[in-house]
Amino acid sequence: MTNNQDLFSPIQLGDYTLPNRIVMAPMTRNRAGEGNAPTLLNATYYAQRATAGLIVTEGSQVSPQALGYPATPGIHSQAQITGWEEVTRAVHSAGGKIFLQLWHTGRISHPSLQADGALPVAPSAIAPAGKAMTYTGDQPFVTPRPLDLDEIPSVIDQFRQGAKNALEAGFDGVEIHGAFGYLIDQFLQDGTNQRSDRYGGSIENRARFLLEVTEAVCSVWGSARVGVKLSPSNTFNDIHDSDPKSTFSYAIAALKNLNLGYLHLMEPTPADIRHGGKPIPVAEFRPLYPGVLIANGGYDKQKGNVAIANGIADLISFGALFLANPDLPKRFQLDAPLNQGDRNTYYGGDEKGYTDYPFLPS
Ligand SMILES: Cc1cc2nc3c(=O)[nH]c(=O)nc-3n(C[C@H](O)[C@H](O)[C@H](O)COP(=O)(O)O)c2cc1C
Repeated sequence: MTNNQDLFSPIQLGDYTLPNRIVMAPMTRNRAGEGNAPTLLNATYYAQRATAGLIVTEGSQVSPQALGYPATPGIHSQAQITGWEEVTRAVHSAGGKIFLQLWHTGRISHPSLQADGALPVAPSAIAPAGKAMTYTGDQPFVTPRPLDLDEIPSVIDQFRQGAKNALEAGFDGVEIHGAFGYLIDQFLQDGTNQRSDRYGGSIENRARFLLEVTEAVCSVWGSARVGVKLSPSNTFNDIHDSDPKSTFSYAIAALKNLNLGYLHLMEPTPADIRHGGKPIPVAEFRPLYPGVLIANGGYDKQKGNVAIANGIADLISFGALFLANPDLPKRFQLDAPLNQGDRNTYYGGDEKGYTDYPFLPS
């Protein structure tokens, strides 16, 4: 069944009427300032992209323990809240809407990024394959410290506090980062969760952390201004599950009952398939989720329009294309040529490859 909607049809997302369905996907750019606080350069970058129907910021760590990479912004100190206030003010002045992505990296961190050289935390003591990005270059991942049962509520509180801080910083909503092998995903998938308490074992138990975090964040924002991002087919960060279809079907059905603003779901990517992931297209999950669904991963204008017209997704988020094209909606509208992104400047650096991608002449 097709409808007559496309990327340019306005849509209601919770209380907000978005002018288009073109979402800027969350993208870590490792350009936060001192104390992991956002800067005026970050504000310029986001304001340049304010014609998106919705901007989702880069992952923002909810606590010092949640940090996993150099120079990523946080949402746990006053300086960070103040920095984000500049960002939200700039985006709102440019007419945009912006949600903050709440992030805890769990085992995808390194003692050199943690207070007092502590071990990163995770559901279970399983080291990821690969290397952590640190201030002194890439270093092998370490075996994380499994969280004690009685400290899990305090980690959920980190998300609750991050959500409160995001409210104070003037965001329009928040997205919970449940994707890409970070802490929430580490609880969800059985390749990283071998707990035998109420947070491990059965799918219901493994999904408990995701659902408790989501409920905590909704208690701050109201569910209509909360989104959750999941990546059922992803293999990045050495994440895997013995039965992702069942695991994610359960999680998605449970999230449906929370009446969120949206669910943000990733398509399988060529890299996931290369690394042995079980590719499950977003279309397979759609019947489980009648609410607002954002699809992501490898979309362009044409594929996005088809997915919306077929009802597979309600909105589409664009990562690499938005990074390189600050005026992406206008370019789509005019079928104008697209700038190509420079991968050498994706992670870290200054305005080069960040705020200097050209706009179409007006
Ligand atoms: C430079 C870069 C940084 C990213 N950082 C994040 C992030 O912080 N949080 C997140 O959920 N996804 C992150 N992603 C993934 C994107 O949100 C998106 O899922 C991915 O780029 C696929 O969409 P695309 O094919 O439109 O680029 C990042 C992607 C890129 C290119």
